[in-house]
Parts: sequence; structure tokens; C-alpha cells
Amino acid sequence: MTIAIKNLALIILTVLLISINGLAQETNQPNGGKAAMDNKTSLGAEIDLMTPVWIIGSYDKAGKANMMTAAWVGVCCSKPPCVTISLRKATYTYHNIMEQKAFTVNIPSRNYIKEADYFGVVSGKDVDKLAATGLTAIKGEKVDAPYLKEFPINIECKLVNTLEVGLHTMFVGEIMDVKVDKTVGTKEALLNMLIFDAKNRNYYGLGENVGKAFSIGKEITNSQTNKIK
Ligand SMILES: Cc1cc2nc3c(=O)[nH]c(=O)nc-3n(C[C@H](O)[C@H](O)[C@H](O)COP(=O)(O)O)c2cc1C
Repeated sequence: MTIAIKNLALIILTVLLISINGLAQETNQPNGGKAAMDNKTSLGAEIDLMTPVWIIGSYDKAGKANMMTAAWVGVCCSKPPCVTISLRKATYTYHNIMEQKAFTVNIPSRNYIKEADYFGVVSGKDVDKLAATGLTAIKGEKVDAPYLKEFPINIECKLVNTLEVGLHTMFVGEIMDVKVDKTVGTKEALLNMLIFDAKNRNYYGLGENVGKAFSIGKEITNSQTNKIK
């Protein structure tokens, strides 16, 4: 065999091996999934998510009320009802919460998009954000933290735990009270909240109701039961 033919045989063998390997990856895995990514693009380890925009209320040592915007937030327990917010140590709010062991979550409506953004671009270390926006801080009834009168939902939280995650410290707050604007109602207020597109740094609103929770999934349970019958 000449060198050229040998090389050609080697190339054909390599192509065959790659194809066989590809086929093997397409086969079913033990959990019923497929190894191949089908129509997905891997984005790597990054945060390409949308999250709610919450405004966190706290008092500093001197009793000055401060508000900051947070989007690394969520509900973490139903009994007792608890939420989490994740803050950098560089924020004024971080130190306020560490000292007072309390904070409020204020859910803005779309009408307050400018103020909600403002609370996230300047620090209470340097300015009085309440004075600058003209919004009203009211002392919480259950915890030592201020809430915003103009925002339709205010949640008073007692600090019950912290967790160092990395750049952020996660605060777990137990909900001590939820206040809702009587003229708006919870559902309308929540549907009017702001959603933050973290990757593109944009704000969005929420859409229509698309299904009943803890219920629509039962259509699959029912179809499985029917198959067995
Ligand atoms: C939409 C948005 C979301 C934000 N989310 C967070 C967050 O989850 N955690 C955080 O530490 N900072 C977050 N920030 C930045 C803080 O709000 C910002 O550093 C602010 O100036 C801190 O205020 P303070 O120093 O008065 O506490 C966010 C800012 C914006 C505009």
C-alpha cells in the first residue's frame, strides 16, 4: 500500500469512529433523557434570567430610612413564610440590616419605575434617597425597618439567617406582616410589578393568566390514568 492509500484509510477510519461516537451519544440515557443537546445552545455558567424587582427598606444607625433596589430575591419557605434577598457588602443596606436585624420588601408598580431604578443607582451612604424622590417612609409596625407608603405592597421581615454565597450575602427574612393597598388589591398590585431582565438590563411587565397552578399539570396525570384503563 502506498503512503497515500494508508493516509486515506486512516481518514476514513477516523470519520467512522467519530460517527459511531455521535450515534452513541444520541442513545437514551438511564433516566430516559438524551445526551445530545437537540435544539439547545449552551450559554455556559451565567445568569440569563428574569426576576422580580423589590425595593428593600432599612434604617441606618442614626435612624435614617433608606431604600435600595434588589433583584436577587425570592420566596424560600411557606411555613414560616420567608423570603431571601442577596446583597453585596458594599451596599449601605447590607450594614443596616446586619445592625437592625430587620428589613422591608416594597413591591413597586410600573408607575414608579423611575424611583425603583433610582434606588438601585445611588447609595444611601451619599444621599437621602427618600428626600430626592419625595416618597414617604413609614416606620414598620412589626419590625425596625421603614416601608414605602406609595408602593402597593409592603412586607415586614425579621432577619432570621444569613448565608455567604460569594459576592452576595443571602439574607433570610421571616415575614411578620404583609400590607396591601386597599384600593388596588393584591392580584392587581402583583400583576403591575416590575420584572428585571438581568442580562440585557431591561424592565418588563407581567402578562396574562395562562393556567391554574397545582391543577393544569393534572391533565397529564389524568391522561396517564386513562392509558392504564
Ligand atoms: C434592577 C436592579 C437590581 C439590583 N439588584 C441588586 C441585588 O439583588 N443585590 C445587590 O447587592 N445590589 C443590587 N442592585 C444594586 C443596588 O441597588 C445598588 O448598589 C444601590 O446603590 C445600593 O443602595 P444602598 O447603598 O443605599 O444600599 C440592583 C440595582 C438595580 C438597578
